[in-house]
Amino acid sequence: MFENISNGKNYKSLFNGEWIESKNKNTIELKSPVDESIIGSIQALSKEEVDEVLEISREAQIKWGETPISERAEILYKAADILEENVEEIAKIMQLEIAKDSKSAISEVKRTVDFIRFTASEGKHIEGETIGGDNFPGFNKSKLSFVTRVPLGVVLSISPFNYPVNLSASKIAPALVAGNSVVLKPPTQGAISALYLAEVFNKAGIPKGVLNTVTGRGSEIGDYLVTHKNVNFINFTGSTEVGKHIAKEANMIPMMMELGGKDAAIVLEDADLELAAKNIVSGAYSYSGQRCTAVKRVLVLDTVADKLVSLLEEKVKKLKVGNPKDEVDITPLIDSKAADFVQGLIDDAIDKGAKLLVGNKREGNLIYPTLFDNVTTDMRLAWEEPFGPVLPIIRIKNIEEAIDIANKSEYGLQSSVFTQNIDDAFYIAKKLEVGTVQINNKTERGPDHFPFLGVKSSGMGTQGIRYSIEAMSRPKAIVLNLLK
Ligand code: NAP
Ligand code: G3H
Repeated sequence: MFENISNGKNYKSLFNGEWIESKNKNTIELKSPVDESIIGSIQALSKEEVDEVLEISREAQIKWGETPISERAEILYKAADILEENVEEIAKIMQLEIAKDSKSAISEVKRTVDFIRFTASEGKHIEGETIGGDNFPGFNKSKLSFVTRVPLGVVLSISPFNYPVNLSASKIAPALVAGNSVVLKPPTQGAISALYLAEVFNKAGIPKGVLNTVTGRGSEIGDYLVTHKNVNFINFTGSTEVGKHIAKEANMIPMMMELGGKDAAIVLEDADLELAAKNIVSGAYSYSGQRCTAVKRVLVLDTVADKLVSLLEEKVKKLKVGNPKDEVDITPLIDSKAADFVQGLIDDAIDKGAKLLVGNKREGNLIYPTLFDNVTTDMRLAWEEPFGPVLPIIRIKNIEEAIDIANKSEYGLQSSVFTQNIDDAFYIAKKLEVGTVQINNKTERGPDHFPFLGVKSSGMGTQGIRYSIEAMSRPKAIVLNLLK
């Protein structure tokens, strides 16, 4: 099924329906996050090749945009079927490439199958409207606006390492069903998994040139891509640092951005503490905390803090640590730079007097699950996104202090509130400066047809199947002026 995408371990790039090597023969070697063994190499495309990709994408989009939506949707259904037949194989690549534990890797691919099917179906229900002129004072029924939705053109999709399949597909599928062509720039570490996904769409019958890939380091070709004249929309998921940089560079190109987070779990005194602890641990530590929506701080009322802390400690101690091939919760981080950064946050918290409950143990890129109590607001861990398995507990005196600390963050992705009092839950939810508030659940993106967005430094625009289709299409109004 995937024999065309590589020459041995040298992975090619999808260009106009064919898998090609870069003419300059420049490649990037990818290493395992677990033991640094070589997994394979990907193409480092040149600027001239990027030009060719964007030109072919522009040309191919014209016919694709005119293809009936029902036909576009049929190809997506086929892609979902092909992906479903290859769940195990693609999940194995992810385990190797990004050290995602087997259960999470399988669940990512299965979720993507559902995502593509739902998108195909939703795409068929995106409709326009007719607006009569007489709705507005001074106009009559002889003026009618026919509003349809049309594609934007070429969508540049840039995905992050932590969900190389799902967060590539969640850009590709809505863009395609809306009639756009797509240039996928996958994360360098995670590129092989994303190239498998591209071949799934290719095999499903996406016409030549409608989906192309550009591999190469973001730091080298990123700026060239995001400022390219043939790009009509940028759909980016990744760090706030890179997102802000792209937003400045890309000038007037419209964009959607899903960036970093520092999601707080607020626990009130009447909360079901067992439920809160279970959700907080799975929210904070799954895929070793490398999720934008991971619970990244706990704000707990003093009165119940001791009890919650002891439940959390007990559960964190039970997390299984090891190799992604096994049934474990915590695996090595994506690279040594990421592990060094997390270690820096841990060291700072210890230096400033936080109480270490579990962890602070490291083997290479593997950071053992770490839990701190008595974290204070002068510590980096109170504000910075670790993207690793470390969780700070901040004790608070009252609800207002929780809201204040939660909102002081530069980020605004999600928050959780654990309480049995619906009035308190809604009071806090309304005051929090985030895209979504979860009541009595961990912070999380799914289900994927819900709106998903961040405010402040966590992003701009709204994902979610219908929202993504709408973001990657626009209204086109044709006004009929009746003469009789
Ligand atoms: P990243 O370093 O920002 O990279 C994201 C993507 O941007 C990669 O494909 C990267 O390519 C590319 N890139 C880098 N520099 C670029 C440039 N100048 N122009 C264009 N593209 C460029 O993020 P990451 O480390 O992969 O992911 C972790 C971060 O993403 C965390 O902060 C996390 O919170 C955030 N995230 C947010 C969400 C959300 O939905 N809010 C979801 C997932 C992740 P290379 O790999 O080649 O550098
Ligand atoms: O890493 C960011 C993802 O958007 C998080 O998705 O909440 O389903 O893990 P998730």
